Amino acid sequence: MKINRRNFLKGTAAAGVAAATGFPHIWIKNASLAYAAGGEIKVGVLYSLTGTTAIIETSLNHATIMAIEEINAAGGINGMKVVPVVEDPASDPATFAEKARRLVVGEKCVSVFGSYTSASRKAVLPVFEKYHNLYWYPTLYEGRECSTNVIYTGAVPNQQQKDFIPWLIKNFGKKFYLIGSNYIYPKEENNVCKILLKRLGGEVVGEEYVPLGHSEFSAVINKFKETQPNVIFSTVVGDSVVALHRQYKAAGLNPKKMPMASLTTSEDEVAAMGGEFGAGHFTSAPYFMSYDSPENHRFVEAFKKRWGKDKTTNFVSEPAYFQVHLFRQAVAKLGKGDITPPQIRKAAWGQEYKAPEGLVKIDPKNSHTYLWPKIGEWQASGQAKIIEESKEWVEPLPYWAYPGQVCTPTGMVEKKS
Ligand code: ACM
Repeated sequence: MKINRRNFLKGTAAAGVAAATGFPHIWIKNASLAYAAGGEIKVGVLYSLTGTTAIIETSLNHATIMAIEEINAAGGINGMKVVPVVEDPASDPATFAEKARRLVVGEKCVSVFGSYTSASRKAVLPVFEKYHNLYWYPTLYEGRECSTNVIYTGAVPNQQQKDFIPWLIKNFGKKFYLIGSNYIYPKEENNVCKILLKRLGGEVVGEEYVPLGHSEFSAVINKFKETQPNVIFSTVVGDSVVALHRQYKAAGLNPKKMPMASLTTSEDEVAAMGGEFGAGHFTSAPYFMSYDSPENHRFVEAFKKRWGKDKTTNFVSEPAYFQVHLFRQAVAKLGKGDITPPQIRKAAWGQEYKAPEGLVKIDPKNSHTYLWPKIGEWQASGQAKIIEESKEWVEPLPYWAYPGQVCTPTGMVEKKS
């Protein structure tokens, strides 16, 4: 049975619609919203342009807008123009929730592209769940989540840590100091790191969390000196990344002996701190600006042309960009009929796109994305030299570190015996 507005208005039985869409009957209420009215499709763009994570989130706004402009320049989606509604949630989770509600309820956006921190993703989730809307989240995160209302295009721990931790142990040693910003992502990501270190015979010699926006690292750096780790594993985010690297170098520490190994330091933070402060440290991510592929050359060139010659691309702006093209493909698949968030989600499952990092795919099993893990060493130029690279795309396993738990397409977590 094909669902369109006409047969909905005729009073089609709720159960029939629910069965056809694969979503609960509660969705019916929202199906009457005019999501694709007047030949336009409204989408929300919810990235911080101010506050402590604007240092990275501004690039996510830019990548999203650029992809939307590309789509519209090529004729839109099935002739429909994509209209971005931009909000600045100011790096504040409560403001994220408030703006998300405005985009979904007030603006009737059919999807929202947004968030860097997991704290802001967690803050908006109830809005998307309540209104059965769809959130496209491009940021690497800690896993252990599979909401029905999110498409996850950033890396989960098996796509960032699985090869990185053994590589760090092999090249530098087993003693790790874990330093992160004080919120859910660094704590959960460090729990995965501790599980891996235990399996590999590693040791945690210190674990510390600093407030978001923290800029005074002398006490932490004294602890690095006291405990002499082989690796400083950093999940510090935002402006603090700049302060940490500058103060590390000013304290006379040497990345050849005690490198920082990060999941959150990208070209944008290195540009802000200055290449000499990043040089010799490492990041694990599926994308670096220096990656040599025709798709990446095009992406970098277009980004600079649109936003400025000095602008950098990074491992969060790249998924922020490609996820809009995956959205385009999903909506295109739906044709010109009713375009609703649950239909888009279903159509997005299995979509593939030749992204700057390589061919990516949305996994229908869990709405996360197949990606291409890499390890980069930062150079004084501000770019990363890619020193390790996966030979195949890596399946997203959001519960990888927690055996027995898997996502299902309905957003449930199943425990396998
Ligand atoms: C993050 O908070 N997911 C970087």
